[in-house]
Amino acid sequence: MKRVFLFAAVALAAVACKPRSEGGPVYLDPNQPLEARVSDALSRMTTEEKVALTHAQSKFSSAGVPRLGIPELWHTDGPHGIRPEVLWDEWDQAGWTNDSCTAFPALINLAATWNRDMASLYGDCIGQEARYRKKDILLGPGINMGRTPLNGRTFEYMGEDPYLAGQLVVPYVKGVQANGVAACVKHFAVNNQEVRRTATNSVVDDRTLYEIYLPAFKAAVEEGGAWAIMGSYNLWNGQFNCHNKRLLCDILKGEWGFDGVVVSDWGGCRDDDEAVTNGLDIEMGTWTNGLRGAASDSYQNYHLARPFLERLRDGRASEADLNDKASRVLRTIFRTSMASERHFGEFTSPAHFEAARRIAADGIVLLQNDGTLPLSIPQGGKILVVGENAYKMMVVGGGSSNLKTKYEVIPLDALREAFAGKAEVVWERGYVGDVTTDYNKVVTGQDLSEKRSAAQLRADAVSAASDADCIIFIGGLNKSNNQDNEGTDRLDIVLPYGQDELIEALAAVGRPMVVVNISGSPVAMPWAPKVNAIVQGWYGGSESGHALADVLTGAVNPSGKLPFTMPKSLADGPLKTERQYPGVREEGKQWWQEYYDEGVFIGYRWYDTRKIPVDFAFGHGLSYTTFDLSNASIRRSGKGWKVSATLRNTGSREGAEVVQLYVADTEASVARPSKELKGFEKVSLKPGESRKVSFTISREDLSFFDADAHEWVAEPGEFHALLGTSSDKISADLPFVLK
Ligand code: GLC
Repeated sequence: MKRVFLFAAVALAAVACKPRSEGGPVYLDPNQPLEARVSDALSRMTTEEKVALTHAQSKFSSAGVPRLGIPELWHTDGPHGIRPEVLWDEWDQAGWTNDSCTAFPALINLAATWNRDMASLYGDCIGQEARYRKKDILLGPGINMGRTPLNGRTFEYMGEDPYLAGQLVVPYVKGVQANGVAACVKHFAVNNQEVRRTATNSVVDDRTLYEIYLPAFKAAVEEGGAWAIMGSYNLWNGQFNCHNKRLLCDILKGEWGFDGVVVSDWGGCRDDDEAVTNGLDIEMGTWTNGLRGAASDSYQNYHLARPFLERLRDGRASEADLNDKASRVLRTIFRTSMASERHFGEFTSPAHFEAARRIAADGIVLLQNDGTLPLSIPQGGKILVVGENAYKMMVVGGGSSNLKTKYEVIPLDALREAFAGKAEVVWERGYVGDVTTDYNKVVTGQDLSEKRSAAQLRADAVSAASDADCIIFIGGLNKSNNQDNEGTDRLDIVLPYGQDELIEALAAVGRPMVVVNISGSPVAMPWAPKVNAIVQGWYGGSESGHALADVLTGAVNPSGKLPFTMPKSLADGPLKTERQYPGVREEGKQWWQEYYDEGVFIGYRWYDTRKIPVDFAFGHGLSYTTFDLSNASIRRSGKGWKVSATLRNTGSREGAEVVQLYVADTEASVARPSKELKGFEKVSLKPGESRKVSFTISREDLSFFDADAHEWVAEPGEFHALLGTSSDKISADLPFVLK
């Protein structure tokens, strides 16, 4: 009896574990190791099912395998928050009532924090929101380098230095992916402008590519473990980047060992054959064969749909190519929507709005201050706020980073809240900038229409200034065309809408005056000597108004640092010719050609090396307290060097300072920048408190990329470790020799 029973039990167990391939639902064991799950699922799939994984099935989803219970992948913009739901094949929002998100600060605002903890907090919060909204791939962060201040998407990126962007993208990616959501780091690569972005070939030498345009992506992959990368619209050295063999196969998947998916930018896939062989894994947003948008079978006409199947059948495409793509997609699904341990995220929680406010404030930069800030207004006094950006909501618009947010606190309301019962806060618009209040059917509900003429607006502002205890000008740019906006570049770095003249007129009144520039990219500030204080506010998201008021009132001591240079004029920059920017037509070449002739000399690498005066330097930012950096020293340590110094808060209130380490190679066989950022640490200290700050310098930190040898080279000779609190405020120069 016993024997029979035992046999029956074993038989039953075998049946229970054996995947039931026919009839009932298939059992894919979620507890196998990742790669075992991938190969198990792949072995069960037909060719058609594998091909389906490699392209879109709707505007923002790519197929799963329904027969095997493998869900589709849901992609969502953007880097600053979760885009509202759209209909199957539309860009406009679908009008749901439960998808208003937390709008986090623009990534340039995060970059200005120079704070790795803020980047981690940011990634975790936005990852929770994506998870809660059942999205699997977050189409962000964007980390393209600030080659030109005119780039329309500067606000979506992390500045002009690859080390700063690399150090902040890593915790952001880890934070997102801790929630079972893939970060899709974009736009890979050398996509540094919006002008003709789908028709321009970036001509960039390898040294420049490896030293400036790849490092932040490399960090995101190798240190951040990014699960997805988005190919960019442009070409690099003659091939479209959504299927660029060198970029995707040799560098990304070869040299860096990337095991995730390459997703095309929407419409970035341009060729049937290259899509198969050059490293693209998921084709999104295409309009192939002239099909536009929602033609009935447009998704079957994608380059990686019917054409791919045809190539597999006639031998022009290999099973190996197909299996590599399908495996990467499956790996992404098992890392996200089918991850065996996955919590449910949070959405628009108080903690998220609090985080948005903290991050925004931590990145606000005090550029200039004669003591007028923090504001001290007599009881019953009058504050005059001038400028459209005190009132205009900025979360709506700007392109694919557009958001429908639960609320957005504007600066004017936050200041009125902060001074309620203490001072009167009066607002004068001063000028008319952008009156639009909607994007993709997301509306702010504001009415920005204006009847007064420009002259009347200015006169009203100036006359209201005469009896103000303080004038706070809140202007800058916005998300409209040729401002901070995807799809177009700016035309100059001069403030638009006659703001310079208005600022001068207000300054001439002679009352204490603070200028707040709300922008995502540099603006020229010729009036700086005429005003008492200047603050670089950013697009701070839902809590932007509160964050700005926190800094202006002193509730928060500013500690932001510029992630890009503020030049005096565009002409001072490194892009001198049409061929450098925005590119030129050339005989016999189908696409526009843009030559990165300036090489590695972008941003402060240009201005500092050429000793060109700027309004405010990369890394600059003041505080309401003061700091002192002393006892700097350098010594050998292992294979590298250890640099340390003591930072002390010599002022009367708590604050944070960013100690920055730059390295200079004063004798090299190639032209090298006068300094390059190789370390930073944000340190918060109480009055009188001091702390030792240390950095290590490795040989890699001293190297330049030798394109001919295709390797990093550190040449023996003298180097300098430069410690300071801005690229133009170096307090210690420590020479050392590499033998
Ligand atoms: C856009 C952007 C990209 C975005 C995608 C989906 O064109 O370039 O950043 O994620 O398409 O909206």
